[in-house]
Amino acid sequence: MNKEEWLKNGYVTEPVDKTLDLKAEIDRLRKEKNAVILGHYYQSGEIQDIADFVGDSLALAQWAAKTDADIIVMCGVHFMGETAKVLCPEKKVLVPDFNAGCSLADSCPADKFAQFVKEHPDHTVISYVNTTAAVKAVTDVVVTSTNAKQIVDSFAKEEKIIFGPDRNLGNYINSITNRNMLLWDGACHVHEQFSVEKILELKAQYPDADVLVHPECKGTVAKLADKVASTAGLLKHAINSSKLNFIVATESGILHEMRKQCPEKNFIPVPPEDGTCSCNECNYMRLNTLEKLYNTLKYEWPEVTVDAEVAKEAVKPIQRMLEISEKLGL
Ligand code: 13P
Ligand code: SF4
Repeated sequence: MNKEEWLKNGYVTEPVDKTLDLKAEIDRLRKEKNAVILGHYYQSGEIQDIADFVGDSLALAQWAAKTDADIIVMCGVHFMGETAKVLCPEKKVLVPDFNAGCSLADSCPADKFAQFVKEHPDHTVISYVNTTAAVKAVTDVVVTSTNAKQIVDSFAKEEKIIFGPDRNLGNYINSITNRNMLLWDGACHVHEQFSVEKILELKAQYPDADVLVHPECKGTVAKLADKVASTAGLLKHAINSSKLNFIVATESGILHEMRKQCPEKNFIPVPPEDGTCSCNECNYMRLNTLEKLYNTLKYEWPEVTVDAEVAKEAVKPIQRMLEISEKLGL
């Protein structure tokens, strides 16, 4: 075991025996250790297929909050692991690769956000779940793209609100709730890559297709959408729609579940603006592999930790989100 090398690289670097049946071994380890594997829709298809639960950010937090497993393996990005750890401080929370960060969470450094909050003491602070635990610790209520509208709507119209860190989601929620929330100027580098031009090109090829857009995309892109929603919301729309073609403007991992649920329908990923590839993948989400997942379970590392003082504050706005979502049936 070369722990120094693991620490330097941010994941267990032990080579995996090529003759192993990895899926069977992952299954054996998860049973032996009473571990649950949670996977986000942006993971590779093979990770989604082996996960105990696959879902959007809200569902991952909800499952983490109610699991009776001893170990939670979060196949997603680091802030998702932190959210699980804050909700379940007594459990071991593992992520296959510590380098799986998030450009949106990075666009909101906790010290600068705390200063911004301090400068607006009369504002309620609403933060998107794509933030560090330290940002959540200075937040009143957390939201995901599934419940953001309803949670914002639960405040009086005259309430002064700070919304961070995603300016695109914030602008979108402002437009559909008729508000003027004060926005933090952050964004996701994956969703910012979607362009009007590429969608119009695809629309010319598939004129009858529905355009599905994640609200982390720019407003000009969201304006072209037949449906703007979270990953789970876009999936639901595709399942319930009578359309056969769908142009999908979000990380292409969601197409795996869309194709599984709707094998008779055609899902077309929108390529990024710079045209370097045919679909748009999150380089952080895609750091997780079956080999790293296996090593994580085997060696129980990397383990997510959150400072106890930070966790004590961060859990409050997350619990508040879960309570409101439960009341709303989300
Ligand atoms: P949802 O799964 O909540 O739609 O979020 C997308 C995302 O960017 C997660 O990082
Ligand atoms: Fe973060 Fe964007 Fe990747 Fe989601 S797609 S994890 S918001 S960088």
